[in-house]
Amino acid sequence: MRLNSLQLVNFRNYDNLHLQFDKKINLLVGKNGQGKTNIVESIYMLSFGKSFRTNKDKEIIKFESENLYVGGNYSKQYTNGMVEVAIGKNKKGIKVNKIHIKKIQELLGNINVVIFSPEDLRLVKEGPKERRSFIDKEISQIMPKYYSYLTSYNKILSQRNQLLKNKHIDSDLLDVYDESLAKYGSYIYILRRDFIKKIADISRNMHEKLTDSIENLLITYKNQINICDEDNTTTVYNKFLDKLTSNRNHDIETRTTKYGLHKDDLNIFINDLDVRLYGSQGQQRTASISLKLSEIELINNEVGEYPILILDDVFSELDETRQKLLVDNLSVVQMFITTAEVSHKNIFDKSNTTIFNIDKGHVINIENGGN
Ligand SMILES: Nc1ncnc2c1ncn2[C@@H]1O[C@H](COP(=O)(O)OP(=O)(O)OP(=O)(O)O)[C@@H](O)[C@H]1O
Ligand SMILES: [Mg+2]
Repeated sequence: MRLNSLQLVNFRNYDNLHLQFDKKINLLVGKNGQGKTNIVESIYMLSFGKSFRTNKDKEIIKFESENLYVGGNYSKQYTNGMVEVAIGKNKKGIKVNKIHIKKIQELLGNINVVIFSPEDLRLVKEGPKERRSFIDKEISQIMPKYYSYLTSYNKILSQRNQLLKNKHIDSDLLDVYDESLAKYGSYIYILRRDFIKKIADISRNMHEKLTDSIENLLITYKNQINICDEDNTTTVYNKFLDKLTSNRNHDIETRTTKYGLHKDDLNIFINDLDVRLYGSQGQQRTASISLKLSEIELINNEVGEYPILILDDVFSELDETRQKLLVDNLSVVQMFITTAEVSHKNIFDKSNTTIFNIDKGHVINIENGGN
């Protein structure tokens, strides 16, 4: 899919902006603080109905203005459409094809966006919590049911931990919690296992392309119950319940739950070495990109249409070879790339790139390529 045009009124530092986009690469170039991220923020807003930078809509309205407007026209293989978002001091309205929507679900899926920002480059380097939250977000997007399983699991986990802190522990109640944890846990373990297998495949391919086949990326599911490919819900339920039961005395002593989904992680290897321990910064970053960009293929598999890709400020973090490989290998995807480095203009093929030069909330010059 692609975004054809964008109109902004009183959005951050833009008064009134109307842009036509390239169907391939849109490069937003400008010094720091000029309004590059503001533009991609508005595109994200057309997709999700909110900003990725703040939960306070009011902050996005241009200083000293009352209302903002963002509108965009998009094309898919078989359809065209329009999304509009208007925000006032105390109200917000979203229209799809000129019709007001009531629920955010009616917006999602019209414009699919994958955004990659500098924090995502740390996905591999950071702790397990960040990787778990990446996995949870990804699976929830494809399968809303997952999110409700996870909410139930977390609620029971916190009740169990609360109970473990009591002076006298009701072991019947602990039995009930263990069974519930094992029930929701078994659903989630299986969904995580299957999802990780899928993204491992896609990421390995992507990483091979990004490194010109020099590096082999291997991602596996790190969990404490040694879940196997053949395990079904009942097997996983029993494995997990056994773990909880056999470790109960230890949990009572330490007053917390040692085993479970809340300890899951990913093993990430490059050429057989644990990239978190032995990888260079650049390798960790590239592995993060490969992992995160697997989302693009997943969405394509799910909805039969490639999403729009936003790369906000990540280009300068890669060497020139990897920058080129990244762009070349994603040629099927419409991209919005922000950069403060004027020299980055040179790595793009002029025939499929439009360059927007941005200065103080104005697009001062458009260098037009292919369209
Ligand atoms: N509500 C607002 N009204 C007016 N201007 C705003 C508002 N919010 C932010 N700005 C301005 O927008 C500018 C920041 O824009 P943006 O984050 O898009 O910069 P950028 O070009 O991405 O910079 P960098 O290269 O540093 O990432 C700042 O100058 C800021 O003052
Ligand atoms: Mg920025």
